[in-house]
Amino acid sequence: MMPVSRMKELLRERGQMVEENLAVCLDGRAVPQRLKDSMLYSLQAGGKRLRPVLCLSAAALCGLPLRDALPFASAIEMIHTYSLVHDDLPAMDDDDLRRGKPSNHKAFDEATAILAGDGLLTDAFLMMCRSPLAPPRVLRAISELALAAGSSGMVGGQEWDMIFTGKDLVSIEDLRGIHAMKTGALLRASCVCGAMLAGASDEDLAAIGSYGAALGVAFQIADDILDVVADTATLGKPVGSDAAQGKKTYPALLGLDQSRALAREQAEKAKAALAGFSGDEADFLRALADYTVTRAA
Ligand code: IPE
Ligand code: IPE
Ligand code: MG
Ligand code: MG
Ligand code: MG
Repeated sequence: MMPVSRMKELLRERGQMVEENLAVCLDGRAVPQRLKDSMLYSLQAGGKRLRPVLCLSAAALCGLPLRDALPFASAIEMIHTYSLVHDDLPAMDDDDLRRGKPSNHKAFDEATAILAGDGLLTDAFLMMCRSPLAPPRVLRAISELALAAGSSGMVGGQEWDMIFTGKDLVSIEDLRGIHAMKTGALLRASCVCGAMLAGASDEDLAAIGSYGAALGVAFQIADDILDVVADTATLGKPVGSDAAQGKKTYPALLGLDQSRALAREQAEKAKAALAGFSGDEADFLRALADYTVTRAA
């Protein structure tokens, strides 16, 4: 088992590698200054950097040096950041605070926020193409990520989220499906793509995919719980926003206690999926699964 202090240290160190790469992601290209400022504003506002760290760490678990997965991991954070910029827009969740700062459309304007999201998403694919690895591996990972982020993954899940907002009749199965798409797919792909870049076996890819899928569900349940119990200063985004908008969440459907139990169950499932792996990298991934739910304990 990895001590929490060591897990946090590794998360910080690996997050820092990603920060440095993101800081230069627009260098050397002619980007309109306002658009560049807007993209970097959201990219550099902080954030836990969980998805890129999962990508780096799944790659390391399968034997790849961290550096070789860094462009791809950074690209995943660009896609995640774009999804947050768009998620906060008035037409979606209409939230004014993100990562402890005014949301992108508040700091800039709606049109710029939409375009910053478009820029981050599209430029992410350029970043992925900078991976210093054999093209078939990179291509396989790009295809996996595009599927997870696109209309049958995160974007599709966001559409379901909007459709179900304010509606009464939502079952727990519906909710599980929404969460798996809007959040689970990108977290799962973060792990799977790291392993793909490392040339992992099908068996290892399946195990790492199961880990990522369970972690993803646990993560969104925890996010839903935090929206009820946390404070804005700690969270860096508005609390109570889900209830105010009639969002379909686990606490709304099942209450806090059952939601916490389900998040814990998913974190245990994630850890169990890595039973075939030993060593520091596997311990780190298991510790991250625990961290995901203890945040909302
Ligand atoms: C928030 O993700 C959006 C969800 C999918 C729940 P994070 O909680 O990872 O946000 P940052 O990156 O740390 O800001
Ligand atoms: C967002 O879920 C999932 C995304 C794909 C961005 P939420 O709407 O719950 O995320 P937060 O709470 O605003 O970060
Ligand atoms: Mg949302
Ligand atoms: Mg939101
Ligand atoms: Mg939320």
